Amino acid sequence: MTSKPRTRVLTGITTTGTPHLGNYVGAIRPTVQASRDSQTDGFYFLADYHALIKCDEPARIQRSTLEIAASWIASGLDPEKVTFYRQSDIPEIPELTWLLTCVTGKGLLNRAHAYKATVDKNNAAGHDPDSDVTAGLFMYPVLMGADILMFKAHKVPVGRDQIQHIEMARDMASSFNHLYGAHFVLPEAVIEESVALLPGLDGRKMSKSYDNTIPLFAPSATLKKQIAGIVTDSKLPGEPKATEGSALFQIYQAFANDQETADFARAYAEGIGWGDAKQMLFERIDREVGPMREPYEALINNPAKLDKILLSGADKARQLATPFMRELRHAVGLRSLSFGATTEAPKALKTAAPSFKQYREKDGQFYFKLVDAQGQLILQSTGFASPKEAGQTIARLQTEGIDSLSDMGASLQALSPEKKLRLAQALSEIAHSQKTTQ
Ligand code: TRP
Repeated sequence: MTSKPRTRVLTGITTTGTPHLGNYVGAIRPTVQASRDSQTDGFYFLADYHALIKCDEPARIQRSTLEIAASWIASGLDPEKVTFYRQSDIPEIPELTWLLTCVTGKGLLNRAHAYKATVDKNNAAGHDPDSDVTAGLFMYPVLMGADILMFKAHKVPVGRDQIQHIEMARDMASSFNHLYGAHFVLPEAVIEESVALLPGLDGRKMSKSYDNTIPLFAPSATLKKQIAGIVTDSKLPGEPKATEGSALFQIYQAFANDQETADFARAYAEGIGWGDAKQMLFERIDREVGPMREPYEALINNPAKLDKILLSGADKARQLATPFMRELRHAVGLRSLSFGATTEAPKALKTAAPSFKQYREKDGQFYFKLVDAQGQLILQSTGFASPKEAGQTIARLQTEGIDSLSDMGASLQALSPEKKLRLAQALSEIAHSQKTTQ
């Protein structure tokens, strides 16, 4: 009956440009593959709130959202199997962003690479350090933290340049959990070594910001022309070529299997001419991308269909986001004034937190229960062989929250949604009372 919980994998693409081979290899293709694995629970989205940070052209953001959504689906993402949505269709995201903002040190954000790079550039140019820095750029990691923490993602596949943001999301989650109880899951970055470094036309990382990208769904002839523009050295046909540091080779590798890559390396060693090598790369990419061009065009020409797909994805996502946001609002004190109704001062309230009681039964086993301030039972454990095991389970509940229940004793699992909410609230009250009595 109890199936192992699936690993939740979440990632987003910022909607500021036309999807390129780097997006495909780094984000689109791996997520499509992962979505076919029944052990993963995929959350994939169009990060259009993030787009506003870099782009003030409404038509471009709209077009990019359309193109990226179409690319994802044309590449094989099945919106029925995953949760596929547009960030701005989830109003809980900006709401959570604010809660996280209030537990995030300004100093932490000062250290974010994207913000720091702009400040460094300004300093180098003798400008005011904050010139052209919007508060949006500064807050970028918090919005990204909300994307990730909202859906309790375990794994976040990203490019190397985004690792710092995942670490910041962990920081935010820990600060919040420490203050208000264990509500958030701490996410981990996943870097696919082979694809993290897809180079662009000039050999630097393929990126919109370097203007060195190769569009994913350009017509075949354009793709060929673009590939012809990849920088190489000036070695002549017949001269052996180095695969190391060759952008052409690295891009080929990202599309080829091991055998094809080995063959291509041999061709390099045997002195293949650059023109022929580029032709091979073109054919390899075209073989993979070619069959997806038609479905892509069909989707691009049917924006209403994409809107519908995205809205139904948002519906699915909000089935989690809406109750979770309710729980979080409650935890921080944005809640009904009649909750825990009492005329006493807050200090007295704090001492009336729920508490864990440990005890031994006649069967010789060790148990615990969680009771509220009035002695009402919130949670009853199964028996443990030793007091230590019971204590460890309590500790896990307090640090990992109710998600840790999934692999605890059977009686803990069968909780109704209301009981779970009550439990989450109780844990948050305990954490809060511990904090305020320290
Ligand atoms: N910042 C990411 C990028 O530019 C996009 C993104 C936004 C994202 N929110 C996210 C990626 C959450 C992973 C998880 O590449």
